[in-house]
Amino acid sequence: MSQSKQPKKVTLRSLLEKKQAGEKIVCITAYDYPTAMLVDNSGVDLILVGDSVANVVLGYESTFPVTMEEMRHHLRAVKRGVQRAFLVADMPFLSYQTSLSQAIENAGLFLKDGAEAVKLEGGTAPIVAVAQALTDVGIPVMGHLGFTPQWLHQFGGPRIRGRRGEEALELIRMADELQRAGCFALVLELVPREVAATITERLTIPTIGIGSGPDCDGQILVLHDMIGLFPGWAPRHAKRYANVGDLIRHAVATYAEEVAKGLFPTSEHFVSMPPDEWEKVHSALKEKRSV
Ligand code: KIV
Repeated sequence: MSQSKQPKKVTLRSLLEKKQAGEKIVCITAYDYPTAMLVDNSGVDLILVGDSVANVVLGYESTFPVTMEEMRHHLRAVKRGVQRAFLVADMPFLSYQTSLSQAIENAGLFLKDGAEAVKLEGGTAPIVAVAQALTDVGIPVMGHLGFTPQWLHQFGGPRIRGRRGEEALELIRMADELQRAGCFALVLELVPREVAATITERLTIPTIGIGSGPDCDGQILVLHDMIGLFPGWAPRHAKRYANVGDLIRHAVATYAEEVAKGLFPTSEHFVSMPPDEWEKVHSALKEKRSV
């Protein structure tokens, strides 16, 4: 009997083993079934249903408005497309900040929907307490430090954090505390390279960088930024690997032109009746003139 070669499922343990072996961890966001299937088939280690869905898919100006219901809708679609990668869901604003029991309940709903872990933004004492409460009841948590969009107003705008000495030390302290609280990995977004490298060296859990340099244990990008699917502005750190937006625009414009000129559809795009069957209809119509 031939052995089917199923790619090995990525687990929390295998992510940790990658760090220990010095192998880079590849992470990406996904928000729906077809893109989840595509990125999972491409061999990424971790898929994040990010609250960036708010900006890049739902058209909100920030991540603040996105709700648990919206996140769950996207998570369930992604789950149906993922077989191999480790699946993480982002806790949206106000789904974990008001009480530990609310955080456990909402994170638990994500696990019921098929997520294998949740992600939280920030490293202040209340957020560390949430991370601890979740890991205490068996819900794996990914931390997120640096540029954390849910803290936008508190930080006074979209500012890089950790460029000044005290801020860098604060990030390093928060990273230590999130690891102590049981986080299995830590996203470092727009953290200066030196700080990201120091945190990566200090921690036993993997760091996943975005705009934080090459020394992190892994990298994450927002899918729509890296494939050019989000019209307009893309952040500097998001390398463009494709221009899917241009492909879509070109395909739809060509379709519109062909419809207008009568070039689409052609015989391979529609069905016809067998000639003898059509002849019956034709004769009946001729005899009766009306049916
Ligand atoms: O929401 C998101 O996509 C994220 C990544 C940028 C890490 O948090």
